[in-house]
Amino acid sequence: MKHNVLRYGPLGIVSMVGIDLSLNKLTGEIPEEITSLDRLSNLNLSCNHLSGNILKNIGSIKLMESLDLSRNDLYGEIPSSLSDLTYLSSLDLSYKNLTGKIPSGPQLDTLYSGNPSIYDGNSGLCGPPLRKNCSGDNSTESGNVIRSGNDLEPIFFYFGLGSGFTVAVWVVFFTLLFKKTWRVSYCRLFDRAYDILYVFISVTHRRLARQATED
Ligand SMILES: *[C@@H]1O[C@H](CO)[C@@H](O)[C@H](O)[C@H]1NC(C)=O
Repeated sequence: MKHNVLRYGPLGIVSMVGIDLSLNKLTGEIPEEITSLDRLSNLNLSCNHLSGNILKNIGSIKLMESLDLSRNDLYGEIPSSLSDLTYLSSLDLSYKNLTGKIPSGPQLDTLYSGNPSIYDGNSGLCGPPLRKNCSGDNSTESGNVIRSGNDLEPIFFYFGLGSGFTVAVWVVFFTLLFKKTWRVSYCRLFDRAYDILYVFISVTHRRLARQATED
């Protein structure tokens, strides 16, 4: 159970209700009646040739703690009732032909983050927590729209920046071109700035040169 070998003592067998038929050659579908075993807490049918779907009302085996259906020929969708199994602490649905959207639920999400390989080898599965989006799923489609909107954002930003800059340069250029007084004062300002810079540089240069000779 839960990938551990348990040794049953006289007390353990009372509290432990499990069926382990793993590593056999069982074929056919999982019998519907198994869901009426409401004390069942461990079911391991791994490594058989079971086919068909996972039982729709698997969620009615409320005390299920460990469910291993890996390495069978099961196909179809994972029933959403699986998220009703609140005691489930070990799940393995790997290497089958499961398809469709993975049901969500706090229990299943936690199991996945504890062991991300539980859905391995099912190429048809999609939706969170897997990266693969389900096609035709509205929620993931709107997610795509949002994401492509984000992709466009930098383009709009740089376009806005570029056009704003261009307009500003032309405004300054045309004002200077047509307003004579502004042009004169602009040139004067430029000249004065140049003068100040020139004086500053030559004074500093001379001071440094003097310091060098004194040293
Ligand atoms: C189910 O049985 C297989 C083979 O005996 C074993 O390797 C696996 O760990 C078992 N699964 C669980 C959840 O205990």
